[in-house]
Amino acid sequence: MNSRLSGKVCLVTGASRGIGAAIAAELARQGARVAVHYGRNRDLAEQVAASLDGDKHLVLGADLADPAGAAGLIQQVVTQAGRLDVLVNNAGIYVPHPPLAVDAAEWLDKWQATLAVNLVSPAVLCHAAAKVMAEQGGGRIINIGSRGAFRGEPECPAYGASKAGLHAMSQSLALALGPQGILVYAVAPGWVETDMAREFLNSEAGAGIKAQSPLGRVARPEEIAETVCFLASSQAEYLTGSIIDVNGASYLRH
Ligand SMILES: NC(=O)c1ccc[n+]([C@@H]2O[C@H](COP(=O)([O-])OP(=O)(O)OC[C@H]3O[C@@H](n4cnc5c(N)ncnc54)[C@H](OP(=O)(O)O)[C@@H]3O)[C@@H](O)[C@H]2O)c1
Repeated sequence: MNSRLSGKVCLVTGASRGIGAAIAAELARQGARVAVHYGRNRDLAEQVAASLDGDKHLVLGADLADPAGAAGLIQQVVTQAGRLDVLVNNAGIYVPHPPLAVDAAEWLDKWQATLAVNLVSPAVLCHAAAKVMAEQGGGRIINIGSRGAFRGEPECPAYGASKAGLHAMSQSLALALGPQGILVYAVAPGWVETDMAREFLNSEAGAGIKAQSPLGRVARPEEIAETVCFLASSQAEYLTGSIIDVNGASYLRH
């Protein structure tokens, strides 16, 4: 265990599985006290928290499909841990809705559901966290976006739009909050080996997906986690406002 994040209190949304669980593990390995948030899988979140280095980690549930309830999550962290140094907005959903395959009602339903979890709840969490961090004299917000914001998501346009919105929000907040010492970043992964991607990776398309990267593979959740922890550390101050691609050169934007 190294102590780069010793004494820091970090909230990771969607930490019951996948990338969020890996981020929680790496933050704790670097000395942080972690609030492990879950949506439906309390048992998995308890297991993640129990597996972390260090102690006094928290397990907190909140359904981020209801953005009105999201702000309460920040208050719970502050009440139980006394402060909040790092917010990682990681929870997200990918619900396919190919434009010509769904009717108008389903199209609207998928857009509203996707934007609620992937963009509006993170916005509510950023706002509540910024108030706390401003009073503390600083903090870090790291939003998990996606390569899809740049490359397009033909099966899931609301997902691509939600992540583009998350990237843009991160940049705006970096400008708005920098004077208060609050640094804001986005991380844009390509394909990562998690539940969200498993069905695609195990399908006939799997080999083609891996071949998108010259490395011939997709990312491991730990690779995203290490990037997030670097951004959470004191070494990344001047990267505020950046959108960091972690996609194995599978998509190079200009
Ligand atoms: N995997 C990829 O290829 C990939 C690529 C680019 C970007 N990303 C982004 O990376 C992030 C993590 O993805 P992942 O692959 O780790 O996803 P995942 O394995 O599907 O896990 C999703 C996490 O989000 C939580 N969540 C989902 N809906 C929620 C809701 N309504 N309320 C509260 N929590 C909710 C889940 O909590 P419960 O299980 O407790 O409900 C779970 O912890 C997402 O933002 C995703 O868009 C993933």
